[in-house]
Amino acid sequence: MDESKDKNILDIETVDLDLKTDELVIIDQTLLPNRTEIIRLSTEKDIWEAINLLKVRGAPAIGVAAAMGMYVLASRIRVDENAKDEYGIFYEEFARIRDYLDSSRPTAVNLHWALNRMDELVKSMKDEPVSKILDAMKQEALDIKAEDIWVCKQIGEYGLSLIKPGDGILTHCNAGKLAVCKYGTATAPIYLGHERGYNLKVFADETRPLLQGARLTAYELMSAGVDVTLICDNMSGLIMRNGWVQAIFVGCDRVAGNGDVANKIGTSMVAALAKRYNVPFYVCAPTSTIDMDTGCGDDIKIEERPATEVTDMWYNEPMAPKGVKVYNPAFDITDNELITAIITEYGIVRAPYDISLARIMNGKKKS
Ligand code: MRU
Repeated sequence: MDESKDKNILDIETVDLDLKTDELVIIDQTLLPNRTEIIRLSTEKDIWEAINLLKVRGAPAIGVAAAMGMYVLASRIRVDENAKDEYGIFYEEFARIRDYLDSSRPTAVNLHWALNRMDELVKSMKDEPVSKILDAMKQEALDIKAEDIWVCKQIGEYGLSLIKPGDGILTHCNAGKLAVCKYGTATAPIYLGHERGYNLKVFADETRPLLQGARLTAYELMSAGVDVTLICDNMSGLIMRNGWVQAIFVGCDRVAGNGDVANKIGTSMVAALAKRYNVPFYVCAPTSTIDMDTGCGDDIKIEERPATEVTDMWYNEPMAPKGVKVYNPAFDITDNELITAIITEYGIVRAPYDISLARIMNGKKKS
């Protein structure tokens, strides 16, 4: 059902909870930019598939969808309130659904982070009636979304302090409003700069094979009136050599404790070129994406996706010989030495990252 006809994409919630029906409501991002369809989800299969098939995607948006989805599914667990072990029966089913949702995508840590946060909450209320636990879960999911908006705004302010009016900016994949709840991470400095008359010139990598840069970043930035130029992934070297970009902002799916970063496939190539041409390379990372339990990039599981994304998708007919071997990793690792700085909601951190990231994460725990 299309509830969004004629609305600017920026005015539609990326992820939402219908408080009347307890349904998860998302934009089906696989259809953008040609069709804007809002879908409502309330079964575990539909929510798992929405994350796995990238109807909702982008690390923070996946986290918010998982938290809201967990609430939606928990609210449908049937337990007799007079049962002898109401909590035990509820928790067993909750844990099964939590593990199932957690298996929908492997790389973005926000999925696990959000489910873990819901789990901690439920466990802390084991002596309460399930109805009270559900109320708390609903509030927690709404809080995770509200925090996401605050976090992105802070990242935007810090990011903006690193650039000046008129600068050219390159970004890869979509780490925009469609990957979060508002502002984006990598696009937050761009949106704030746009509001403040910075007149930034943005270059968006199309991001093969799923074209998140073309279908989503270019679309949302154009919808906001930002000056954006779409380029193929193999063009960024020339753009940098020409001196057309003064900074690169990208998002991330997981930051390891040593500062290695997993982000959309192709990011590490951009980072290596940025070093060659002396363009600062900034990773925009909510602290929910920083995983101090993962030591380095080698420990991050890289999602592999179907070969047809490379051979057939977007073409009228296959553009590769039938049966050809395909390698299709969805993410890559950018080594920490290629990263100029990591921008979090609590400030900008620089090498040595093992020390600066630990400092920021420890400070967060105290506050
Ligand atoms: O496969 P996707 O579309 O979920 O990948 C998204 C990215 O790699 C983004 O750059 C990342 O999640 C950062 S989102 C703020």
